[in-house]
Amino acid sequence: MRIVAEHLFYTYNPKSPFETAALRDVSLTIEEGEFFGIIGHTGSGKSTFVQHLNGLIRLPSSLKRSRPNRKKDSSVKTVLKVGDFDLADKKTDFRALRKSVGMVFQYPEYQLFAETVREDVAFGLKNFSSEKLSEEQIDAAVRAAVEVVGLDYDEMKDKSPFELSGGQKRRVAIAGVIVTRPEVLVLDEPAAGLDPLGKQEIMQLLHKLHREWCRTVIIVSHDMDEISENCTRAAVFSEGTVRYVLPPRELFCHAQELTAMGLDVPLTAKLVSLLHERGIDIECDFTAADFCEKVLAYAAAHPKKERDEGGEA
Ligand SMILES: Nc1ncnc2c1ncn2[C@@H]1O[C@H](COP(=O)(O)OP(=O)(O)OP(=O)(O)O)[C@@H](O)[C@H]1O
Ligand SMILES: [Mg+2]
Repeated sequence: MRIVAEHLFYTYNPKSPFETAALRDVSLTIEEGEFFGIIGHTGSGKSTFVQHLNGLIRLPSSLKRSRPNRKKDSSVKTVLKVGDFDLADKKTDFRALRKSVGMVFQYPEYQLFAETVREDVAFGLKNFSSEKLSEEQIDAAVRAAVEVVGLDYDEMKDKSPFELSGGQKRRVAIAGVIVTRPEVLVLDEPAAGLDPLGKQEIMQLLHKLHREWCRTVIIVSHDMDEISENCTRAAVFSEGTVRYVLPPRELFCHAQELTAMGLDVPLTAKLVSLLHERGIDIECDFTAADFCEKVLAYAAAHPKKERDEGGEA
């Protein structure tokens, strides 16, 4: 499912002293099959944007009237489509949309509530299925979801989610979202609060889900390394607008602007720039593995003596 947003605006608490313009004319297209990143400093509108994608935040019913720039340009039309779902249309089946677009919130483990892992994961399935499912169907779907997130179903199913480790809880929470087999999976800061190994494991899991389970994966992150290591393309949000949408390696050509927006560029981008200053030109795609390969290839192509001479010249 292709996601198309055009001229999206959103204001919290309009016409009150707490009015906050969270999205100001966001236009963004995410292609089916992408592993897409959304990055931006705190308060830039990332969560507000992704909550639109499964209808958690609805477009204002009187779009035309509420749009701030209507007077200036009446030809500007707000569009929000996820595949065939038109989110600007009040008649859209939002329940079906939520089944197709899974949303994993930040720290999803805080939302576990049921007495057992099985019940917790089954909840999402029962909630979003239009037809009544048999116990066998539910069991099979829950087992598959728990197993794909890397947990042993027979060992886990009767446990209380509260007995599990932090990493296991997060996996159960993700299972509870993917159990409906959504085509699009959106995760808000999926690696937040995890140690480096935990982060790595969660990202590996998301790639596995992207290969085997959900056509499109969208992650929100503060972490440029995470975005550059994992995403096909990324959108940079700043003050409620989209500043860039680029593959990570092209994004880092704007390192200065990114830094000015309060974003850190990946370590590999800094290293490439330090090497450039020393006369060593390597073009890396900014993943750590690629950086390492390119440095090794450079070293092999330029024997030490030559490098030393080059350095002196
Ligand atoms: N429920 C809310 N009520 C009022 N204002 C809100 C609400 N949620 C967000 N905002 C405001 O809207 C703006 C965008 O917030 P949003 O949460 O979308 O940003 P974000 O990029 O996800 O930030 P973070 O990185 O901190 O999660 C901010 O100014 C924020 O304070
Ligand atoms: Mg957020």
